[in-house]
Amino acid sequence: MVEVREWTRSDTSRYFRAPAAEDDKYTRGVVALRTGSAAYPGAAVLGVEAAWRTGAGFVRYVGEERAADAVLARRPETVVGADAGRSRVDAWVIGSGTDPALRTDAESVALREILAGSVPVVIDAGALDLAPGARAPFLITPHAREFARLQERLRLQPGGERAEGARQVAANIGGTVLLKGARTLVAAPDGTTFAIEAGTGWLATAGTGDVLAGVLGAVTAANPDAPLAEIAAAGAWVHGHAARIAADVTAGSPGHPIVALDVAAALPPAIA
Ligand code: APR
Ligand code: MG
Repeated sequence: MVEVREWTRSDTSRYFRAPAAEDDKYTRGVVALRTGSAAYPGAAVLGVEAAWRTGAGFVRYVGEERAADAVLARRPETVVGADAGRSRVDAWVIGSGTDPALRTDAESVALREILAGSVPVVIDAGALDLAPGARAPFLITPHAREFARLQERLRLQPGGERAEGARQVAANIGGTVLLKGARTLVAAPDGTTFAIEAGTGWLATAGTGDVLAGVLGAVTAANPDAPLAEIAAAGAWVHGHAARIAADVTAGSPGHPIVALDVAAALPPAIA
């Protein structure tokens, strides 16, 4: 049996500090997202919104025109354009709302360049196949089906115990695994494993994973020296807690339906 530690609210609080007098937008963390696509521009909007709402000092977006326009319409604070790749970045988020079958050669080159760098990368959805072989420190965020597909690609047996599976994949690819679900698990390559149960079943709605990716980018950017497994667990906890706030889940009530943007909007009170 794999030893799994329950990740708590007080564990989480270590990764969310109030800004100090000497802080500026850069010291609070610069997040860059290369997410979304013409088919799924909403994923770009959700990730960008979540990164801002998690307290990033600066958010950059690089992506297809339709997605970039949607990002700017929703969040004009965002700096959009290919130059993001050549400016200061403390954490990358890639893959949400993209389909690897539609990836152009230019897009593959750009993603591989990010993964060959030294800035930590949150790898979601359509970029998960690029994780094995990455040189940058990275964190992958598969849901159960994406995780099974990755296990097959790595010639590991899918369908076993989740914590054991997450540990195996983390050790195999040399990166941190955040396996989503009602009980989200985080496994580091060294075997450290956390479970996060802060969420609610109301999170089972389209786009909440895109929000999580943006949260993780912001927490990573703000905590450059922290272990990625702890960053992942802290991000997942805040995301789950925000969902409970948005859905009005209390001891006396199971709460009500929410949409992904509601989760993003509840991030500030969750962090508070
Ligand atoms: N209880 C608690 N939390 C849940 C539950 C549940 N029953 N179901 C899902 N969640 C949480 C997960 O832990 C995760 O944080 O909701 C989030 C869902 O994330 P995703 O599965 O990535 O969902 P979504 O954002 O819609 O992404 C789906 O992205 O994975 C790609 O291409 C894929 O189109 C798909 C899209
Ligand atoms: Mg997803």
